[in-house]
Amino acid sequence: MTNHRIALVPGDGIGPEVLPPARQVLDAVGRRHGITFHYTSYDDWSCERHRREGAMMPEDGLDRLRDRDAILLGAVGHPDVPDHVSLWGLLIPIRRGFRQYVNLRPVRVFEGVDSPVRGARAGEVDLVVVRENTEGEYSRAGGRLHRGLPGEKAVQEAVFTRAGVTRVLDYAFGLAAARGGRVTSATKSNGLVHTMPFWDELVAERAAAHPGVPWEKEHIDALAAKFVLEPARYDVVVASNLFGDILSDLAAAVAGSIGIAPAANLNPERAFPSMFEPVHGSAPDIAGRGIANPLGAIGAAALMLDHLGHPAAAKDVTDAVAAVLATSDVRTPDLGGSATTGQFTEKLLTLL
Ligand code: NAD
Ligand code: IPM
Ligand code: MN
Repeated sequence: MTNHRIALVPGDGIGPEVLPPARQVLDAVGRRHGITFHYTSYDDWSCERHRREGAMMPEDGLDRLRDRDAILLGAVGHPDVPDHVSLWGLLIPIRRGFRQYVNLRPVRVFEGVDSPVRGARAGEVDLVVVRENTEGEYSRAGGRLHRGLPGEKAVQEAVFTRAGVTRVLDYAFGLAAARGGRVTSATKSNGLVHTMPFWDELVAERAAAHPGVPWEKEHIDALAAKFVLEPARYDVVVASNLFGDILSDLAAAVAGSIGIAPAANLNPERAFPSMFEPVHGSAPDIAGRGIANPLGAIGAAALMLDHLGHPAAAKDVTDAVAAVLATSDVRTPDLGGSATTGQFTEKLLTLL
């Protein structure tokens, strides 16, 4: 019997609606594979707490998570708290504090799911966005809001370090090698004159260090268009923090719904716990109605199983997801069905 200590951070909106299904799936698959989970749930780390106490989590929040084997997070964000305050108060400090510099966002088109995109056929689209997760366009340092002058302006600094870019590129090239695939690097070196030419230079350098892996670069605007027109072309797509963020929602939509995409925030060195979460947010527009698609969170649980050394259990979960979509029409409204989160999860559990 293997036991894992898992931190649950449900967060806001549909976060607390999609984590219980993920946990039910983990417990079910765990029973089959001799894995047990010891959960500690941080239910009040949320915007609600921010309104009450002025902070999303306690000051020693990261210390409380530090000795866990992994973190499973729902979503963060509520209309009552400015998004940059809530996200920089909980999600982003975990990613950065625990050096989770790889954000792995796999997307595949499942049989039985209607994609809004003609060329997105099941079995053909199977790509992974490798998103740089701790620097790039997301930074607090350097930039400033200059208020009150006639020349009122905001300056946002993007930080690309050689070490930070190199390590995520090496991860992407390593992943492509393991998949027998290739790397596409998202760039914008025609418009951004400092950061992206540097990014491209490092990509060429790391490509040379992985001579067996084919690679190409594409400008992010054209790449976004091709994600829609020819999604099956792509395998491993490596991108900066912001570009990767946008591409992963786009890829999820191409595969049918933002609600189905999972993410793994990885600290590949395993010096700190990694965090697993759906790609989507707290979806305040549907929160409280019990209709959120739990597949993003369930897929995140599968990524977590893989990371914890249980690839067979992870595969059981993705196989069950594929089977429920292929063999039944039980699905949540975002995928054109009328099932609730609970009904869909129950159906999935019958296949585990
Ligand atoms: P969102 O992903 O929450 O929602 C976008 C759209 O997709 C909405 O119409 C929503 O109903 C739908 N959707 C999302 N997840 C779904 C699911 N599981 N099932 C069915 N439909 C789903 O993005 P947003 O509206 O830009 O952001 C809402 C809040 O979430 C904001 O506060 C934002 O900052 C936050 N956010 C948090 C995270 C995170 O915690 N990782 C990620 C993205 C956005
Ligand atoms: C995501 C989200 C976050 C991000 C936001 C909410 C800060 O969109 O996890 O994709 O941009 O990283
Ligand atoms: Mn996003």
